[in-house]
Amino acid sequence: MEFENIVLTKEVPIAIIQLNRPDALNALNHHMMTELAACLDQLDSDRSVNAIIITGNEKAFAAGADIKEMESAGTVEMLERDSFSVWDKMKRIGKPLIAAVNGFALGGGCELAMMCDIIIAGETAKFGQPEINIGVMPGAGGTQRLPRVVGKQKAMEMVLTGAAINAEEALQWGLVNKVVPAEMCLEETKSLARLIASKPPLAVKLAKESILKAFDISLKDGLEFERKNFCMLFSTEDQKEGMRAFIEKRKPQWKGK
Ligand code: CAA
Repeated sequence: MEFENIVLTKEVPIAIIQLNRPDALNALNHHMMTELAACLDQLDSDRSVNAIIITGNEKAFAAGADIKEMESAGTVEMLERDSFSVWDKMKRIGKPLIAAVNGFALGGGCELAMMCDIIIAGETAKFGQPEINIGVMPGAGGTQRLPRVVGKQKAMEMVLTGAAINAEEALQWGLVNKVVPAEMCLEETKSLARLIASKPPLAVKLAKESILKAFDISLKDGLEFERKNFCMLFSTEDQKEGMRAFIEKRKPQWKGK
């Protein structure tokens, strides 16, 4: 598949998607988001890829939804645009998603990073939900995912003031996993992606699914869900191989089956 606003690089068993509208600081227009969702969907069913990185450039991961594209829209038009369905599609990706963030991750850019499972930040990264400054509020998960990660008070501060936080603050607040020198950000993220990609893919998929469930359902239902996924893995060849390899004191050979 050919893309215009993103660049896909496969370094099997990982894939890197670079957002590529540098002149607009990678503002997320509808075309780019449609391409991103289609690319993720394609990679999700590509058995050669076990982990996916989303990144931007040194100046911006993404400076938010494209303001120029939204400025003249009315409520009905916004509701009828399928811009939200692409976010819903991305939410269903089963493979691990890792954001490598340098520069601005604002508005929809911060929301896109938060939709990923892990975030590695370069020292230059800036995270924020500045929508309040342009007369709106976060619309792609900012008011829901941010409080779950940083807590109510800090989410309120970020969303109500629109002020951005730097990479160190994001680390302290639990928004990112690690801060690294900006020029190392992609390489560090690739190392992490390769480590995750070296694990049995079905166990990774079900573990991701189980952790995400923790945000949607009660502890009782979550524990039930976890138990079913755990037991389900006992019908995979990789479970037999992993446990046998441990007992035989050798490295396991995963089949993804
Ligand atoms: N949408 C459209 N274009 C954008 C953009 C955005 N979100 N962010 C930056 N750009 C464009 C600018 O218009 C400019 O284009 P021109 O050269 O054609 O004028 C170009 O990118 C470079 O931007 P700046 O000149 O502004 O660069 P800067 O370094 O001076 O400032 C910035 C950088 C502080 C990030 C500033 O660009 C900015 O504040 N951007 C908007 C951030 C924002 O409000 N994001 C939230 C959008 S709404 C949203 O995301 C809703 C949601 O929840 C889904």
